Amino acid sequence: MSGEEIIRVLIVDDIPDTRENLRKLLAFESDIEVVGGSGAGTGREAIELAIKHKPDVVLMDINMPDMDGITATKGISEKVRTAAVVIMSVQSEPGYLRQAMLAGARDFLTKPVSSDELYQTIRRVYDRNAPIRQQMAQMSAMPAANTARAAVADIRQEVGLSAAGAGHVIVVYSPQAGAGVTTIATNLASALMSQDTRVLLMDCNLQFGDVDTFLNLQAQSNISDLTKVVSDVDQEMLNSVLVTHGSGLKVLVAPPHPEQAYDIAPEDVKELINLVAGSYDFVIVDMPTLYDDLTLKLFDVAERILLVATPTIPAIRNTRKILDILEYMEEPADLKEKVLFVLNRVVGERDKGRGTVPTASIVNALKQPVLAEIPLGERAILTAVNQGVPLVAKDTKNSPGRDLLNLALALRREVEGLSADEVENTTEQGRSGLRALFG
Ligand SMILES: Nc1ncnc2c1ncn2[C@@H]1O[C@H](COP(=O)(O)OP(=O)(O)OP(=O)(O)O)[C@@H](O)[C@H]1O
Ligand SMILES: [Mg+2]
Repeated sequence: MSGEEIIRVLIVDDIPDTRENLRKLLAFESDIEVVGGSGAGTGREAIELAIKHKPDVVLMDINMPDMDGITATKGISEKVRTAAVVIMSVQSEPGYLRQAMLAGARDFLTKPVSSDELYQTIRRVYDRNAPIRQQMAQMSAMPAANTARAAVADIRQEVGLSAAGAGHVIVVYSPQAGAGVTTIATNLASALMSQDTRVLLMDCNLQFGDVDTFLNLQAQSNISDLTKVVSDVDQEMLNSVLVTHGSGLKVLVAPPHPEQAYDIAPEDVKELINLVAGSYDFVIVDMPTLYDDLTLKLFDVAERILLVATPTIPAIRNTRKILDILEYMEEPADLKEKVLFVLNRVVGERDKGRGTVPTASIVNALKQPVLAEIPLGERAILTAVNQGVPLVAKDTKNSPGRDLLNLALALRREVEGLSADEVENTTEQGRSGLRALFG
């Protein structure tokens, strides 16, 4: 260990005198610094202080009120990976020690602890933990998105939001009004939802959101109830604001009045998504047609952007403009690589030519592969909307229900397992194509 490194130690014991004695012992050593004030008196406090102060070493008592040392060790090992926990027990208790080891403890001290033993053990576990510290330091030096995600992960743990989901954030967007964004977002969310897939559908069309209408939901609360207190959102609050559709789908609706959208800061929407995403496997976001600050924030937070267009000249033109922006925007970067392109209201061979452009020509013009084509199906889709049930929940045998289901499957394949080569090909194809188009 090099001379300048300071080992930061957190002391956990329910007896204040014990903490104080340990603190005094450690004060003699110039390479050791005690963090977290007078230490933690309970297991719960230990986890809180460990998250806050990120100690290198935690001296952990076993028997404590509220939460025992073993449980706290498990919590700290999971949440603060750079912290090495040293268990302090009254006499060697084999049963406890085994449990403590399984919980992630690195070493043991028997009380009363001699000063030499204490110093040696602290320096030993600190040295042994060097590879983990290096790994975490490298991760935090990675692009901002990763550190932001890690910071959010800490907040999530503190407020008790579950982290059980894969957290794929998929935003659905079109630069053309009425292209079918809400139709696709609601059906996609519904199709992805199955017993083992947790899906949250968010209406970020803040002025004229209509997800509630599409799903026939009556909501008492809406997204603004969360964004205005975003730093205080916890699981309980989230549960009280989300509405559950008859199918079990969780929905966060838009405000009932357009003017309420002005009170919602795009940054807070982004933060909210970051905060809740990990509790779901998929967060599907319905977006307005606008191109503004919120649009960019949503593109930035998204893992994938489902870009929707109808096969018409004006729609293709607007799509080209958006692809161009996404390609050349420097901040946030790499947006173009997130795009998955979907054509909606595609007509059959018989009706071709009536103002609609064939898919092959669109792909050729945009140099953008098409993930899925959803056929025109006025009656089926309107009936479903009138009933407040997504079409995929009613009929996946016939078009366009079948195609909407296939879109969900294709998206799943994209986010869950496309080989690196395939990803490379798709993005490279798009890139070189756009270069050709826009010089
Ligand atoms: N494949 C389709 N076939 C027929 N009708 C469709 C199809 N997709 C959507 N529609 C209809 O088109 C209309 C607009 O769809 P939707 O509201 O989903 O679009 P949007 O892009 O969300 O619009 P907005 O810009 O208002 O948010 C709706 O009446 C819907 O029923
Ligand atoms: Mg819409």
